[in-house]
Amino acid sequence: MNNDILFSPFKLKNFTLKNRIGVAPMTRMSSPGDSIPRQDVLDFLVRRAENDAAIVYTEAIVTDYESAQGYPRQARLITQRQIEAWKPVVKAIRKEGAISIMQMFHCGRMAWPEINPANRVIAPSPITPPAEKPVNR
Ligand SMILES: Cc1cc2nc3c(=O)[nH]c(=O)nc-3n(C[C@H](O)[C@H](O)[C@H](O)COP(=O)(O)O)c2cc1C
Repeated sequence: MNNDILFSPFKLKNFTLKNRIGVAPMTRMSSPGDSIPRQDVLDFLVRRAENDAAIVYTEAIVTDYESAQGYPRQARLITQRQIEAWKPVVKAIRKEGAISIMQMFHCGRMAWPEINPANRVIAPSPITPPAEKPVNR
């Protein structure tokens, strides 16, 4: 891509993005306990905005625990405590002139059954994907 295009502004609905650089959503499996990502993971997202990305996607955040969660230590955005934890991140990204977008996620067939509270996989498809479990570092 021509650099002039990459660094040129882009209009997205009500936002004028300063360039066309976005941080892809990256699951970190770094949210133990309360399903709030570790501070260093949240700081990482803000740093991307400080370094001039125009859009910062969150990692895939599960829509509910009972059906959507499929990997250990995934982030959730359900309780007020979880919402409050994300607010300063969204604010800091905005302060840098970037926007954040939450990726909402339902694990579907990719879920590990043992992670589901009812020990099952909930998905629209009966076909099991030929996939390996992601590595949890
Ligand atoms: C560690 C890691 C975590 C990822 N997590 C997600 C995710 O949560 N949601 C998603 O849509 N894609 C996820 N992806 C895919 C990336 O968002 C991105 O689309 C992909 O890495 C870019 O394609 P490439 O790897 O072929 O360059 C992840 C990729 C990596 C490397």
